[in-house]
Amino acid sequence: MSTERKVAQLIQPQINSFTAEDMARYRFGSYLNGGNGGPDGDEFAPAGKWLAYADRMWDASIGPLPGDEPVIPTIWGTDAVHGHTNIVGATIFPHNIGLGATRDADLLRRIGHATAKEIEVTGIDWNFSPTVAVARDDRWGRTYESYSEDPRIVAELGAALVEGLQGTPGDADYLREGRVAATAKHFFADGGTDQGVDQGDVNGDIESLKAIHAVPYPAAIDAGVEVVMASFNSINGVKMHGNRDLLTGVLRDEMGFEGVVVGDWNAHGQIAGCTVDDCPQALLAGLDIYMVPDDWKALLENLVAQVEDGTIPMAKLDEAVGRVLRLKLRLGLLDPNAAKPSARPNAGDYALLASADHRALAREAVAKSQVILKNDGVLPLKAGARVLVAGNAADDIAKAAGGWTLTWQGGGELDNSYFPNATSIYRAIESEASAQGGSATLSPDGTADAGAHDVAVVVFGEEAYAEFVGDRKTVVFEDTEGLDLLRKFKAAGLPTVAVFLSGRPMWMNRELNASDAFLASWLPGSEGAGVSDILFGKQDATGRLSFSWPADCGGAPVNGTQGALFNLGYGRSLADRSTMAALPEDCGYLTEGVSTAWFDLGRLDSGISAMGGDTRLPNLIGEGGGVVARGFDKDRQEDAREIVFGPGSTLSLSQRGDTSGDYRILYNLASQPAGPVTLTVGEREIDITRNFALSAGKGWREMIITEQCAPGLGNRIAFTSDAPLTIQIARIARQDMPEGAECSF
Ligand code: BGC
Ligand code: BGC
Repeated sequence: MSTERKVAQLIQPQINSFTAEDMARYRFGSYLNGGNGGPDGDEFAPAGKWLAYADRMWDASIGPLPGDEPVIPTIWGTDAVHGHTNIVGATIFPHNIGLGATRDADLLRRIGHATAKEIEVTGIDWNFSPTVAVARDDRWGRTYESYSEDPRIVAELGAALVEGLQGTPGDADYLREGRVAATAKHFFADGGTDQGVDQGDVNGDIESLKAIHAVPYPAAIDAGVEVVMASFNSINGVKMHGNRDLLTGVLRDEMGFEGVVVGDWNAHGQIAGCTVDDCPQALLAGLDIYMVPDDWKALLENLVAQVEDGTIPMAKLDEAVGRVLRLKLRLGLLDPNAAKPSARPNAGDYALLASADHRALAREAVAKSQVILKNDGVLPLKAGARVLVAGNAADDIAKAAGGWTLTWQGGGELDNSYFPNATSIYRAIESEASAQGGSATLSPDGTADAGAHDVAVVVFGEEAYAEFVGDRKTVVFEDTEGLDLLRKFKAAGLPTVAVFLSGRPMWMNRELNASDAFLASWLPGSEGAGVSDILFGKQDATGRLSFSWPADCGGAPVNGTQGALFNLGYGRSLADRSTMAALPEDCGYLTEGVSTAWFDLGRLDSGISAMGGDTRLPNLIGEGGGVVARGFDKDRQEDAREIVFGPGSTLSLSQRGDTSGDYRILYNLASQPAGPVTLTVGEREIDITRNFALSAGKGWREMIITEQCAPGLGNRIAFTSDAPLTIQIARIARQDMPEGAECSF
């Protein structure tokens, strides 16, 4: 192989940042779809399009090459972290935190197998899962990706998922029919960062850190895991992607890992002295594959030059390439008769997505993951009961599924129509109640007549998030909608059941006090029936906490009995109806009022809708009406958006309900507008062409819109550009400026 072809095996771009022609020309060893990526720019594309895309890239990667250069097919990696959840209609299993509560390794094996089959339906080869993080600080936004704070639980369940995904080494189906390559991630100590800051620093003596955070790896390696993903975090100030002692010394030499080490999303660019497109250090430290979503071309060229000038020894390159080739060999893809993706087992068998078997398995997982924290006797619900089902999460599948569901962040604009093969918690309660001769009334805001019901079930919880977007300063749950409903029903004399959806344990003292029974439901996914199975006592509650539940709201790490309200292992069976004393409700971190950010850190608030012309742009991503909005990295991944206006197109954002406050918009204009630009605020149209001409090329600026230039302000803003225009937006918020503040653009 030529040096360039070898280097290409180590380059992993994301779909939509390259074309089939690029694939044919450069022959990337692998590629990925990010959480917001789908074939042809459509993350909601039907499964058939994913499969067709896999074929297209396969074909592009196997065309003959000049000379006797060997032809090596490419492979596709994806984040099927709780089912194949980038795909509309796939089974959505509970996130890992829920699976941890089941303690059921056999269940995990079956989930891995089912997930692998659904992945194969779309022609994909490789899963970036399981996350075997040992989350030790619940303020971390990825806590729900962790099975437990206890490394032994993580090790056992992580290894089981690996076996389910890949099969057992030596068996005939290993990495073949019904199996895909797995990835243990993120090596290591992703769950150990200071204050739970995602991608942060971990401090401490290496052996003690290993004794917690590295424990799951030998188990995954024993199970045969083919790939390990390096972590974003640093340890004692050194970024993992550049840490030779750990990536090579510990992972390979000490633990004996012989498979592929893949990097995380541009994480090599965070090594001191590296940029995203120039980083020999990572390969030298022990990385095999660079995950380089967009800047693949420059990185590839630089690596080739660095091999040629001796910065990277050829032997080092060969080792890494050898590992990638061995993975492909094991996947059966180096066989001259290897079939293209659509001709492989399970490919195109769309009935496998959310098949009855897979949904039954997910329902079993949900039921086994529910943890009853309190039950004064109201559970199980009685046959014939008239159930009032309240709370904004009761009939919201996206909220029950959490992050990494159809989109990277999940939630937001994803209403139930995006989930054709799923049952909301309310629907499941409704069907069980009716089957038992009772009834259920859906009343998200709780205005239904309490007197006409026997019991209230309030379903509420965290909004969906992923990665650093979910980082919190405390474990306070600010949203009091669920609490208010529980209190209101209790005051009306109705017994109350709280069903709390969350990606982590949180301070729930007030909600516990206001409920007669409390279910920690985690992020169950597509099968609401698993929740109703426990509520109605169709099976006993066997879920037990895999994390300590905090007594205090501050968020200091609780990993053991000290500071715990409920210890790891806690969870009641339905027969345990002992009463619980009232809990203290004081918390110094409770603040008043809600956030007014329409868009921040890459997230659109759920009360805001963004439109390009008449087309919805979910989470301010997508295309419509001549506007293209895509993720843009300002300080962190996709914490901003780049909006490209076609001639005469409009981007508008509007807020539902009552609103107030001045507008503050953080934006950057790379170049001068080529034609007039208008800002519509409420009913006012403001020509901002000149302002934009002045701010172009000056970096990030804040636009402030007050009553002074836009009396009434209203609940809608829109930008219209007559000519092509590109603008980046990082934040849109409403906040009162001091009296008399002037507009500025
Ligand atoms: C995440 C990984 C994920 C990768 C690809 C990263 O940001 O940390 O867990 O596998 O992106 O989506
Ligand atoms: C995620 C990707 C995601 C990206 C933004 C990463 O951190 O892991 O999968 O799509 O950020 O696009």
